[in-house]
Amino acid sequence: MTLVYLDHNATTPLCSAAADAMARAREDGWGNPSSVHRAGRAARRYLDDARAEVAALAGVSDRDVVFTSGGTEANNLALRRIERGGTLVTSALEHPSVVATARAMEADGVTVVWLPVPADGRLLEAEVGAALRRAARPCLLSMHAAHHETGALQPVTELVALAHALGAEVHVDAVQAAGRVPPESWRGADSVALASHKLRGPKGIGALAHLPGKGPRPVLWGGPQERGLRPGTQDAIAAAGFGAAARRAREGGSARYQALAPLRDAAEAAALALGARRTTPAPRAPHVAHLLVDAISGDALVAALDLEGVCVSSGSACAAGTAEPSPAITAMLGADAAAHSLRVSLGETTTPEDIDAFAAALARVVARSLK
Ligand SMILES: Cc1ncc(COP(=O)(O)O)c(C=O)c1O
Repeated sequence: MTLVYLDHNATTPLCSAAADAMARAREDGWGNPSSVHRAGRAARRYLDDARAEVAALAGVSDRDVVFTSGGTEANNLALRRIERGGTLVTSALEHPSVVATARAMEADGVTVVWLPVPADGRLLEAEVGAALRRAARPCLLSMHAAHHETGALQPVTELVALAHALGAEVHVDAVQAAGRVPPESWRGADSVALASHKLRGPKGIGALAHLPGKGPRPVLWGGPQERGLRPGTQDAIAAAGFGAAARRAREGGSARYQALAPLRDAAEAAALALGARRTTPAPRAPHVAHLLVDAISGDALVAALDLEGVCVSSGSACAAGTAEPSPAITAMLGADAAAHSLRVSLGETTTPEDIDAFAAALARVVARSLK
């Protein structure tokens, strides 16, 4: 059975540029980048080159990139910049790596303001403005650029301008946006979280990129790596892969994703013809269809499509395997909608044949469920 992979928001296959860069680094970049001898210096060069590529993608200077283990750690680090006495403003729409960190910070005595969640999943400028005006300083607004489940795009530019005018900082979780939508749709923030595996680099590495002076407070101790902000020996081989993927993402990533919109529309049309409903109005990322399928629960649908060789999702991958429906969709549309959600996320390897296979499989599954 051929694999039809339509879950690119969960992760993406390694691109050959990243694989090649890692193969080269594995040969001569395996040293400890902190060692002063030639093996260490060779690894350091891979790390430095990767840092420059990630900085260019994020739109910051090289020295303002902190390598992390991925998007989750980057979000954790960014939020922990706020200590007791300050305010974090965010919403239940965010990825669990933001929501759970905010809850842990609340338990530690930090004031967290939870913004109201509109049904279309787009934060309202008036609500954000009201929350930021009331908040004790220092104040950090944490928001995503592109939603991990619906693909909805937030008005990042407007909200960053508003927050800065009010003296607040903004962290943008750009894990689902970088390399997929134009950088203007997530630029301007004080810090940005990126994950290599969402843009066809290796897993286990990501970055927190920030403006000068807006770096994180360390939450780990024990070494000078990453300017002491994230101690621990860096993986120069993974970084080489991330750097190559970041370069590729910067060079035409959003155009390649924009070209997927007709395929996404075809997948969506096939589902709508079978009675599904679309949840996300524009503006939205070009590669994600988020649908409600009343006839069958999201979990059952994902399992049935898997048996047909089609990989999709009913919630974020981090929530997969648990019976919990997506908290973000629950906040937007209620628990019933969350239990009947289907996320189809296309990527650079998606073909028209994949969409045909998806449409045929979905028709078979829905027909069986109605029997
Ligand atoms: C919006 C968003 N933020 C953060 C993360 C976490 O990234 P990672 O898997 O690299 O920890 C994800 C992963 O799905 C995500 O979609």
